[in-house]
Formats: sequence, C-alpha cells, structure tokens
Amino acid sequence: MPILDTDRATLHHGDSLAILRTLPDCSVDTVLTDPPYSSGGMTMGARQADPAKKYQQTRTKRSYPAMIGDNRDQRSFTLWASLWLAECWRVAVPGARLMVFTDWRQLPAMTDAVQAAGWMWRGLVVWHKPSARPVLGDFKRDAEFVVTASKGKPGTFSRRCLPGVYRHNVNAARKIHLTEKPVPLLVDLLEATKPGGVVLDPFAGSGSTGEACLSTGRRYIGIELSQEYTALAADRLQKVMAA
Ligand SMILES: C[S@@+](CC[C@H](N)C(=O)[O-])C[C@H]1O[C@@H](n2cnc3c(N)ncnc32)[C@H](O)[C@@H]1O
Repeated sequence: MPILDTDRATLHHGDSLAILRTLPDCSVDTVLTDPPYSSGGMTMGARQADPAKKYQQTRTKRSYPAMIGDNRDQRSFTLWASLWLAECWRVAVPGARLMVFTDWRQLPAMTDAVQAAGWMWRGLVVWHKPSARPVLGDFKRDAEFVVTASKGKPGTFSRRCLPGVYRHNVNAARKIHLTEKPVPLLVDLLEATKPGGVVLDPFAGSGSTGEACLSTGRRYIGIELSQEYTALAADRLQKVMAA
C-alpha cells in the first residue's frame, strides 16, 4: 500500500525493484530518477565509506538521515541498475523518456545498464554545479550527468531547442537530503516530457522530483526505501499540494 496516494502523487515506501514489479505495463510517460551512485572511490573500502563522508565537503557540519544502498561494487552496481531499469522500461509507455542521474565515475556503468535494460541511449545532459569543491592542482569536478534515453522513438513536447548544459547551485541551506538535487534543475529537465504526464521516480529521496512534477502539472509516482526519507518526501509533497 502506498503511504501517500492522491490523484496528483503516489509515494511508496519500500525497495524499488520489488515495488516496480507491482506496477502495470505501459503506465508511465517518463522515468526521471537519481539512484544511489555507489561512487566515491576506486577501492572497495572507499566505496563502502559512509555516504556522508564520500559526498559531503569536509567542512560541512550538517547531518542528514543515512542514505541506503550506496556501496555496491562495480559489477553488482551495473547488474542491479540493469534490473530496475528493465522494470522501468516495462512500465513505460512506448516513446517514454528516461533521465537518470550519475557522476563521472559511474557514467560508463550507467550507460551500459541503460542499454542492457532495453532503453535507446540518446545522450547526456550536463548539470554544472559551480559550488563543487575545488581540487588543488587538478580540474574541478563540477559536473554531474543525466543519461537520457527513450523507449523507441521519443515523443517531442517542447517547442524550444533545449540546452545540453544546465547550471544550478545546490541550495545547501534548504536541502533535507544528503544528495538532494535542485528543484529548478528538475523543472528544467521536465520540459522535455509530456505536459500532464505521469513521471516515475524509483529513488525518491526527499521528494524533490515530486515537487518539480507537482509544480509543473505532472503526476508523480515515487518509491523510497529509507523510512526517514519517505516521511520527509511525503511531508514535502503534501505541503506542495496544499499550497
Ligand atoms: C541519490 S538519492 C535521491 C535524492 C533525491 N533525488 C533528492 O533530491 O532528494 C537516492 C535515494 O535512493 C534511496 N534508495 C536506495 N536504495 C533504494 C532501493 N533499493 N529502493 C528504493 N530507494 C532506494 C536512498 O535511500 C536515497 O534516498
């Protein structure tokens, strides 16, 4: 049973793969999601470190609920991503778009998994985040990537030529999730998707994608494994719907 179920938003608490398997074929117009990256290092020890240490600048004092599922090794990450991406493909309508976040280290694994799951890889959108930490004597890693793909020929809904690079800072003061994505970035990404359509997000986190969907008139289906983040996301979605 979803913990939130209205005509504008549904939120499930549980494992994405298990819940995806309960959703009907060809029932969502878009998949926009930000899974755990399992990134942060070359070695197993580095990957298995606490995500709060891997992804947070050392001087940051804020703490967030624990992020689950972020410590797979490379082979199991690719296999696992292929499994949930294949379920997303089944649940998506023909012509649906997939947009999935990743970082530079996991980009090859994610593009392999996307294609293994049946999606047609279409390209990358770059999220430029100027607030990323500087690296002495090395290039600043101030970009994350959105792998874009489609289920067959994608629908075209925007009447603009959309950019390939979006620049948005993380709103550190407002964020409630360790790796929360800026809502304005998600709103920008939704411009390529069906107005009024159904957007599936199997890794909802704090519900930022849900907020972007609701604010642009799209229906949202989210799934989140962490009880704390599910509660935060449900609260956020209810507030946006009440506003
Ligand atoms: C990168 S975060 C998403 C952050 C979100 N985009 C936001 O802006 O708040 C990935 C989320 O996936 C959740 N997660 C990890 N494994 C999961 C699983 N098997 N099923 C559902 N959610 C999972 C984590 O708890 C985490 O909140």
